[in-house]
Amino acid sequence: MNPVAGAELPARGRELTVAQPYLIQQQWDAYTEEQHAVWAELVRRRMPQLREHAAQEYLDGFHQIGLREDTIPNLSEVNRRLSPRTGWNATPVSGFLPPDAFFEMLAARQFPTTTYIRGRESMEYTPEPDIFHDVFGHVPMHAHPVFADFLQHYGRVCARLMHDKEKLEKMGRLFWFTVEFGVIRQHGKVRLYGSGLISSHGEGTHVIEGKPEIRDFNLDLVLEQKFLVSEEQKVLYAVESFDQIYEAAQEAERRLA
Ligand SMILES: [Fe+2]
Repeated sequence: MNPVAGAELPARGRELTVAQPYLIQQQWDAYTEEQHAVWAELVRRRMPQLREHAAQEYLDGFHQIGLREDTIPNLSEVNRRLSPRTGWNATPVSGFLPPDAFFEMLAARQFPTTTYIRGRESMEYTPEPDIFHDVFGHVPMHAHPVFADFLQHYGRVCARLMHDKEKLEKMGRLFWFTVEFGVIRQHGKVRLYGSGLISSHGEGTHVIEGKPEIRDFNLDLVLEQKFLVSEEQKVLYAVESFDQIYEAAQEAERRLA
C-alpha cells in the first residue's frame, strides 16, 4: 500500500536559478559510432546480471523510458516518455554540480544528467559522472511514482539545510544508502536499485556474492553510517518497499529541517 504517492504535485515549469549556469544541450548527433559502441558494451555487460538481480521497478523503468542497448539515449526522447509518468526530466548539465544547484534541480524534478560517455579505458569505473551512470544507473527509477516523490522531497529538504553542514552530511548518507547503493528485498532475495550498484559490474557482483553485510533499513542507523566513496561497501541497508524510503525522507525532514 502506498498512502503517500501522488501527494505532492510535480513542480512543473519551475524556473531554475542556481543551477542555470550548468544547463547545457545534449548534442546527440555528435556522438561517434565508437561512443555508441561503448554504451552498447556497457549495457550488454550489465543486463544479464540485472535481469536476475535488479529490482523489478528498475527493469520496468528501463523499458518504460525507452532505453536501448545499442545507442546512447537521446534525452529529449527519454523525457517524452518519462515526464508524463512522474513529472521528472533528465536534464543535461555540464558536470558535477555544487550542492545548492543539485538540490534545486531535484526539488524541481529535474535530474542533472551528464552527456559525456567514458572511454574504453574506464569501462568498470569512472570517477567523473557520465551518461552511463546517470541515465542507465539512475533515470529508470524516476519512472516509479513513489521513488519519484521521494527524490523530489529529498531535494527540497536538503535545499533547506544548506546552512547546516552536519545535517546535510546526514542527508548525504540517506542518499548514499538509497539512491546510490540501495537494495530491496523482493521474493525473498536482495535486489539492486541504487545507481552505483546498477551501473557498476564490480559493485553489483560484490553484493550478489554476499560480501557486504545487509541490514534492515533503519533511518537512525543510516543517518549515522559513515561510508567511503572509494571502497567497496561493507554495509548496505535493505528496504521492504519504496514506501519506506519516502517515509524516511519525511521523517528526516521532521527531525532535521
Ligand atoms: Fe549517482
